[in-house]
Amino acid sequence: MTALQKSASLQARKGGRRIAALTAYDYPTARLLDECGVDILLVGDSLGMVVLGFPDTTHVTLGHMLHHLAAVSRAKPHALVVGDLPIHSYDSPAQALVTAKQLVAAGAEAVKLEGGISQAEKVRAIIDAGIPVMGHLGMLPQQVLEERGYHKKGKTAEQTDAIHADAQALIEAGVFAIVLESIVPESARMLSASLAVPTIGIGCGDHTCDGEVAVITDLLGSYPWFVPPFARPETDVAAATRAAVARYVARVCEP
Ligand code: KIV
Repeated sequence: MTALQKSASLQARKGGRRIAALTAYDYPTARLLDECGVDILLVGDSLGMVVLGFPDTTHVTLGHMLHHLAAVSRAKPHALVVGDLPIHSYDSPAQALVTAKQLVAAGAEAVKLEGGISQAEKVRAIIDAGIPVMGHLGMLPQQVLEERGYHKKGKTAEQTDAIHADAQALIEAGVFAIVLESIVPESARMLSASLAVPTIGIGCGDHTCDGEVAVITDLLGSYPWFVPPFARPETDVAAATRAAVARYVARVCEP
């Protein structure tokens, strides 16, 4: 399937089977997740925190994104590979298009960017070039410094209406899906019911959106130093790693 066919078939899932998305930043993880039938592999700029050791996503460069996208795409996933446009790589429509093309050349099949009405022209420029775009509304990690932390969104009717207007602008510009991050469950549910494209929730509560995305390290428990309150680990890779390495050190060092 082409990238456009994959994104169109995900868009057609609105109101049907929910979409399961996970982040991936390297070849083996991408292969494993793809073998499990994940729908979207997001090479998110969360890689800055959970792989590269930065305090937030504002340190991620285009070079970082290209390196990790190439690794993920070498797994030749059936899932749609979506790459994040890193901060300040899409400050104008022309720059957004150049960056999106670079992500595609590195292996992305679609791109994601943060923001609503103010980004609609950039989204249109990318989509006009044949590259599918996923939106991202609610809590925007690239704004963490301006907003002085990560705050829940959609807590009032005014906030929710503003997110709705942003989403409408993205939909009119042609996005195939929109990530909703850290929006209170009632608002996420209302937004999902009223928007024409699938919403992919993170930190919005269970079954409030048309799909979910999780950061892979949150799911696996492999980044124990910061676990967001909404994370739902399914295993404890950090504990398994520590135990295995302790056994190795003992085997090697003890007589
Ligand atoms: O970078 C990322 O992992 C993301 C998800 C939180 C949606 O954008």
